[in-house]
Amino acid sequence: MKKKITLIGAGQIGGTLAHLIALKELADIVLFDVAKGIAKGKALDIAQSSPINKFNVNLSGTDNYEDTKNSDVIIITAGVPRKPGMTRDDLLGINLKIIKQVANGIKKTSPNAFVICITNPLDVIVMALQRYSGLPKNKVVGMAGILDSSRFIYFLSQEFKIPVQKIKSFVLGGHGDSMVAMLGSTLIDGKAITDLVKDGKIKQERLNEIVERTKKGGAEIVKYLEKGSAFYAPAAAGVEMAESFLKDLKKQLPCAAYLNGEYETKDLYAGVPVIIGSKGVEKVIELKLTNDEKMNFKKSIESVKELFNAARKIDKDLN
Ligand code: APR
Repeated sequence: MKKKITLIGAGQIGGTLAHLIALKELADIVLFDVAKGIAKGKALDIAQSSPINKFNVNLSGTDNYEDTKNSDVIIITAGVPRKPGMTRDDLLGINLKIIKQVANGIKKTSPNAFVICITNPLDVIVMALQRYSGLPKNKVVGMAGILDSSRFIYFLSQEFKIPVQKIKSFVLGGHGDSMVAMLGSTLIDGKAITDLVKDGKIKQERLNEIVERTKKGGAEIVKYLEKGSAFYAPAAAGVEMAESFLKDLKKQLPCAAYLNGEYETKDLYAGVPVIIGSKGVEKVIELKLTNDEKMNFKKSIESVKELFNAARKIDKDLN
């Protein structure tokens, strides 16, 4: 039987997700949006490309949660994106309200779904989504680390002029300015980046600039676009998570996952490597961090905690 993916939010990311999922024939697709016309219009537009691209999935648009019933995967992008000059945290108040509505909508209709949240500020919104919906913690996860890692790897490939496939790295922690690029685990064509710095192949200052650019990778795009934020790379990252779940690929992916003591963090969502398979988040992988990475990860966790406390003040239901 064909699988069913519901996309809550049919905006820039939602539409791109639908297109990628259709091209990969991962599942039938329901686009849900409070703006019903956008959901229906995009579903029809993508469906009309199926004779050209030769995919065989069903696409529909709706503003009724009944139509999303029994989804295998739900990807949430409902919310407001950043405008130039805004941080992700500035979106908290408005997106928290939206996510509460979404949680109420999906908990009754798709209690067994694997739910991937993309709405920002990511770590706090995914944590709120899990609390509001009451869905199992291993089935509610946030998309951030794959995107941040992908940005970092792309910038490194440009710097070293080698293909992205030859670079291994990832970015952990909160999806904000405090995210942590794992330099201790970064390999450029099999060589540790820390050795390349020692050998003078790249200056530490230049590497620091690339890390900074990665942290501000989203803001750079917001500034160019003027209206809205990045959507191609975020959608590609969301699809990788959905695919690993649906096909039980058990890929190790950096995602915002619930931590219950791992990385010395309890009862909080943050970006860590996890295994995603048919049971959802099947395992949190505990890496050995360097002292610097440990310190920066801790700082990042503190800022997620701080923002979650701000969310609690906005909505007492989160206490
Ligand atoms: N239920 C469903 N959909 C909603 C709701 C709601 N309560 N509120 C808003 N939406 C829809 C909007 O109608 C809009 O079509 O969410 C969609 C969001 O789309 P865009 O504005 O194009 O935003 P997008 O670029 O897709 O980003 C969405 O993901 O990366 C984050 O920061 C980004 O929080 C933002 C989210």
